[in-house]
Amino acid sequence: DPELVAAGEKVFRQCKACHMVGEGAKNRVGPHLNGVMNRAAGMVDGFRYSSALKDMAADGLVWDEENLAAFLADPRGFMKGTRMGFAGLRSDEDIAAVNAYLSTFGE
Ligand code: HEM
Repeated sequence: DPELVAAGEKVFRQCKACHMVGEGAKNRVGPHLNGVMNRAAGMVDGFRYSSALKDMAADGLVWDEENLAAFLADPRGFMKGTRMGFAGLRSDEDIAAVNAYLSTFGE
């Protein structure tokens, strides 16, 4: 849905303080997000994840739509001890939109 993707690009402005996505994306405060949808958590080379994230990754966390939505709604509730210092997205529409946007970027 191109409209949802366009809406998600706007929502992603809130993520850009810390994350890059797209061609040439690099790790910043947070890991780059290319290919994150449906990938195992904690897989970006050269990024130092929190032990909270590494523990959940070791337990098999995959960033599918459902887990990404739960994380983005309440990062520190979903992952106690995460270093992602972001309050979360309040609206389900924004979450669906940013997920659609992120889904457009492969590795
Ligand atoms: C981790 C998405 C906002 C900092 C992550 C991960 C995702 C994500 C999917 C896990 C990546 C992986 O496992 O490789 C988003 C989205 C945002 C957002 C979609 C906006 C809606 C932010 C903001 C900051 C931030 C604003 C900084 C203030 C981080 C950090 C991590 C992280 C430091 C690593 C967490 C850890 O190791 O515990 N983010 N993020 N993020 N993000 Fe964000």
